[in-house]
Amino acid sequence: MCGLDFFCMATKSAFFILLLETVVKIQALKGFKDIVPGEVELWQYLEKVAREIFECFNFSEIRLPILEETELFARSIGEATDIVEKEMYTFVDKKITMRPEATASLLRAYIEHGMYVQKPVQRLFTIGPMFRHERPQKGRLRQFHQMDVEVLGSENPRVDAELMAMGAMLLGELGISVSLEVNSLGCPECRPGYRTQLISYITERLDALCGDCKRRSSTNPLRVLDCKVPTCREQMLSAPALQDHLCAPCADHFEKVQAGLKQLNVVYSLNKFMVRGLDYYCRTTFEFITSDLGAQAAVGAGGRYDGLVETLGGPKNSPGIGFAMGMERLVLLLQQQEKDYGTAEAVDLFIAGIGEHGSHGGFALAHALRAEKYKIAMDHEGRSLKSQMKQAHKACARFVLIIGDAELASGKGVLRNMATEQQQEVLLAVADIAALIPFLKNSTY
Ligand code: HAM
Repeated sequence: MCGLDFFCMATKSAFFILLLETVVKIQALKGFKDIVPGEVELWQYLEKVAREIFECFNFSEIRLPILEETELFARSIGEATDIVEKEMYTFVDKKITMRPEATASLLRAYIEHGMYVQKPVQRLFTIGPMFRHERPQKGRLRQFHQMDVEVLGSENPRVDAELMAMGAMLLGELGISVSLEVNSLGCPECRPGYRTQLISYITERLDALCGDCKRRSSTNPLRVLDCKVPTCREQMLSAPALQDHLCAPCADHFEKVQAGLKQLNVVYSLNKFMVRGLDYYCRTTFEFITSDLGAQAAVGAGGRYDGLVETLGGPKNSPGIGFAMGMERLVLLLQQQEKDYGTAEAVDLFIAGIGEHGSHGGFALAHALRAEKYKIAMDHEGRSLKSQMKQAHKACARFVLIIGDAELASGKGVLRNMATEQQQEVLLAVADIAALIPFLKNSTY
């Protein structure tokens, strides 16, 4: 090798090492989280329990797109809300937004498919990711998941009570203890009068309020009521309450909602400061609150939005009510219970093929058993029997089938029951998987 060749090689390897060292790991975005095996079982459990309960209350699932026209959220959630003003992931040039919540999309679909014609009252639920550009912290993410339920087409206060009872039942089934806080936000008849009174109360105290509240005092004065800043809270303690300014139909509705809750033995308290961060609400609003998650106390929330379908281009007089549960928060609470939700890894049979021939024999057998719906694991890397037994333990395999040259020659493999440690010979031919199935079905022999 000449000196120049050597120089070129050395330079190349130095460059290669440099390249290896400078390859930067790509990580998930801040506020976006992977749900990995080991954790995903808890999510599956949560969904299963929710689906069972939604079914008992006669809800049907609807699956919705993640991207919608920005206008849909601006018109429903409200231009002056934090969500629309600051938190939406919007492709400005295309005027489309990744949904920050599910209600607007669900109503868009309800109107688009003329669902109000098919059934006078539609009960729908959807489960999936939502996107809000908030400051991430425990229980608050930028991509988070909601289980969202909506009842469209009924104004009956019993529906409000029934929905809250369903939320309480779901949380009870999950062993999560919460308090249910309820309020009424009135309607376009009674709210303007109250709003005027509230603005004059706020104006008298404007200097003592935080910057956000000063701004909101004219754009969205009701939001001043639920500001979390202690000085603002103090100032608002004796603010007029909407509950005391409801028009007769709203007062009657609210009374009947409470009677329904009592009839169903749902424990609740009234919270005159709850206004919710979305503008579409009227009359009943509610939140399920936990004391076990620090600042992110609401595990679920919702309310009535009687004018919203019409605002989005649907038929007149189409009332609606719904709520959404935050799945990350529910998962955090379930994790605190330290229960075992099973692992996805427990397999019926681990096939340990020894050497190329053993692996080759096990390959087709695994496929035939999987076609019979058995959960089979197998190593394709030609590892030692010891290493494969370790993998079988990790996978919580009920059985291990050992196939080496001797077993192939005799046409019989060694089946080991991992619980009893008993071993037994079984026929290996794919055509004879019937010989294995009784063992897999019933682990005693
Ligand atoms: P929301 O109060 O904005 O209401 O959200 C409902 C629930 O979603 C919250 O109580 C919380 O558990 C969860 N959540 C919200 N933001 C985050 C976040 N950044 N990270 C983790 N969890 C979060 C709505 O979205 C309405 N659409 C509910 C509704 C349905 N109203 C009527 N129908």
